[in-house]
Amino acid sequence: MGDFLWWRDGVIYQIYPRSFADANGDGLGDLAGIIAHLDYLRGGPDALGVDAIWLSPIYPSPAYDFGYDVADYEAVDPIFGDLADFDRLVTEAHQRGLRVVMDLVMNHTSHQHPWFLESRSSRDNPKRDWYIWRDAAPGGRPPNNWESVFGGKAWERDAGTGQYYYHAFLKEQPDLNWRNPEVRARMFQMVRFWLDRGVDGFRLDVVNAFFKDGEFRDNPTRPGLRGYDRQQHLYDVDRPEMAGLLNDLRRLLDSYPERMAVGEVMGNDPSVPARYCGRGTDQLHLAFNLGFTAEPWLPRRMQEAVLRWEAALHTEAWPCHVLSNHDEVRHATRFGGGHSGDARAKVAAALLLTLRGTPFMYYGEELGLRNTPIPRAEIVDPPGKRYWPFYAGRDGARTPMPWNAGPQAGFTTGAPWLRLNSDFSRRNVAVQQADPDSVFQFYRRLLDLRRESPALQRGSYHPLLHRPVHAMAYLRVHPEQTMLVALNYFGWKADLDLDESLLGRRWRLCLTSQPGDYERVEGNSLHLAPFEACVLEAEGGAGA
Ligand code: GLC
Repeated sequence: MGDFLWWRDGVIYQIYPRSFADANGDGLGDLAGIIAHLDYLRGGPDALGVDAIWLSPIYPSPAYDFGYDVADYEAVDPIFGDLADFDRLVTEAHQRGLRVVMDLVMNHTSHQHPWFLESRSSRDNPKRDWYIWRDAAPGGRPPNNWESVFGGKAWERDAGTGQYYYHAFLKEQPDLNWRNPEVRARMFQMVRFWLDRGVDGFRLDVVNAFFKDGEFRDNPTRPGLRGYDRQQHLYDVDRPEMAGLLNDLRRLLDSYPERMAVGEVMGNDPSVPARYCGRGTDQLHLAFNLGFTAEPWLPRRMQEAVLRWEAALHTEAWPCHVLSNHDEVRHATRFGGGHSGDARAKVAAALLLTLRGTPFMYYGEELGLRNTPIPRAEIVDPPGKRYWPFYAGRDGARTPMPWNAGPQAGFTTGAPWLRLNSDFSRRNVAVQQADPDSVFQFYRRLLDLRRESPALQRGSYHPLLHRPVHAMAYLRVHPEQTMLVALNYFGWKADLDLDESLLGRRWRLCLTSQPGDYERVEGNSLHLAPFEACVLEAEGGAGA
């Protein structure tokens, strides 16, 4: 299609670099490993067929938060390679028509970043004000009641200078002071550094946390389990100053062709990410609605979540959808289903790839990968260590990509940094590429269909069932094409009455997860096999 815009019409695939592919045998994934598997993502035989990759952070980092604590923004951590490897990755990706998105962690740095080392060295150091330093409250207590997302107070007392610094996450992740113009100028310079290297876009880590209340007022309290949840986050996130900053960042990105920024926004209400997308071109291109990842396996709940997201966004803004990422339990585990888990994973895939908006996939979801239970002694994720057994942390969603049934699943020749999924000899890329009925092959067919379909890429979204109890059905309507998507969430047949306006239309079956030779639509009735996800195209083209 002529006006294809990669971040709007394409599909973005998140790679967690430590866990994707290890080329040098140290047990950690690296850039050379990613390069060696680019053909899997696009261009090679039996490739998945995505349009862009997003790399979780690859910057030098002492890895208290596995790369989300950056010690140098303009280099590559030696565990992953070096800048020459990175340049090669960008070149090789672009040769295959794959865009490259980097993770930008600009809310905080590592406590080992030279800026912070300078900042904490004395009260009158020129970089003191690059971070958020405050005097103790009376009695030596922290300056206010703010809590860290990862547990405990968000303030750490620095013995050397006698003041507290603020950290929204770990104490090894001090927050930058975005009110300081030098910080902003330095960060924009860094963004240009990567844009000039050919990077196509950025995922902005916790973009709603950059500014804090200028008066550092206490957050009001509310009921909740953990300290962080027992506060209403009025003053530590979502401050109005962010709008101006994003406007400037957008102008910088728009001074390069076809660049994109997607924001990670904390909070479960879609009105929050919607605010950061703004009105088309004044804010971010996209923002994640992570509330969507918390929905249970119920069509009614999913449909409501989609409608809430659509309603929250400004009409000129563009939605995006995500079911799994490196912070959440993998959706094949969340949605459950026991021996029907893969049938559900296919229905979920069809949902993600046919809604209106840019789909973000997470490595391994195309295999129906499940979370791996991690024994306590092997937990490395800080919140998991802190809150076990109530919360086991995020390691279980970050286990190595299973490439084949060979030693260490083909991920490494060494000892993998996290244990492999126990089912890797059955659930891996090689096995699923060879099996026409696999989750992988279903993703592939969906991606092929989406690539050629103006309605799936750009069409408007119209739900067809007012009370979706067993199934979801919707139209995607584009001037050139109308598609009908029907998703049966459960293991029994569904016969549904669709809107009368569909009477008399004829449909061609484009794709189904449950092949069977029968009419899916008769009159205005829709017939679905157990766990069937199917996409049909209206014959004779457009019109709802
Ligand atoms: C974001 C990242 C998460 C990280 C946190 C702090 O939420 O997705 O992995 O721990 O920010 O940077």
